[in-house]
Amino acid sequence: MADQEISMFRKIWSMGNYHKLAAEHQIISEHLVAEAQVRAGQKVLDLAAGTGNTALAAARRRARVTASDIVPEMLEVARQRVEAEQLDGVDYHVGNSSPTIPFDDGAFDMVLSSLGVSFYPDHQQVIDELLRITRPGGTIGIALWPEASLASDVFRAGQKLNAGATSIDKIQPAYQMCNGDYLRERLQGRHASLRHVSGTYESCFTTLDAYVEEHCRNHPPAILRLAAYDAAQQAEYRQMLRSIAQRYNRATDGTVAICMDYTILIIVKA
Ligand SMILES: C[S@@+](CC[C@H](N)C(=O)[O-])C[C@H]1O[C@@H](n2cnc3c(N)ncnc32)[C@H](O)[C@@H]1O
Repeated sequence: MADQEISMFRKIWSMGNYHKLAAEHQIISEHLVAEAQVRAGQKVLDLAAGTGNTALAAARRRARVTASDIVPEMLEVARQRVEAEQLDGVDYHVGNSSPTIPFDDGAFDMVLSSLGVSFYPDHQQVIDELLRITRPGGTIGIALWPEASLASDVFRAGQKLNAGATSIDKIQPAYQMCNGDYLRERLQGRHASLRHVSGTYESCFTTLDAYVEEHCRNHPPAILRLAAYDAAQQAEYRQMLRSIAQRYNRATDGTVAICMDYTILIIVKA
């Protein structure tokens, strides 16, 4: 990846206060480490670790964890969280992991990524690289938003409104990775087993407007899109967020409880 692209990714993911949103995803990371069966003493990589949700979940199971991300400020939040919980065995690595992941062949018992590598531009390269750095018999665990989910609807809405507005709207949809045939083609028989696990949690707000405001203030891709749109597109984007969230709302008391569906892929390397 060219230097200017690296600094662009750093810039995007430094926008807003992403941890305000990521804290809600912690439940996904706890589910991911349970499905992956992280065990004490295992060497685990949390790739695109952000503010450390999966690294913390693995460290709570007493694994030896490396949290890697391109944005140092994100990892600083992870470090503060690890310190607050007095967790042991967490290392931090600032670096770019696309298209190549900067670790040795077979370096980890387990490589995990929550809402991370599924957004990388080349899924074949992602799978090749994850398999390369995982030891034979080791586990790869990926958490991502499936095709039918609020997050994927928001991605499609952004593309529909103005696909050329930002670099992140031009990438292949992350949710493709959930498709069995698509994955099988990319794994090319290099796996001993593959499982899909579904999960859901509720993202709660007092009103739909509160959801839209929070999303627009702290979700880096949304901040990027809004900065690229004209006033009419900004208003349309906000309205689309509102109506998408309304479709997923299952609160019956006049507040908002957005149903957030996610998928976990557990791949055991042959
Ligand atoms: C949606 S956030 C997910 C963060 C975290 N895994 C979580 O579950 O909250 C995506 C993360 O990917 C990181 N990222 C994006 N491109 C990257 C790259 N090329 N190399 C390393 N990290 C990258 C971003 O900095 C951001 O922290």
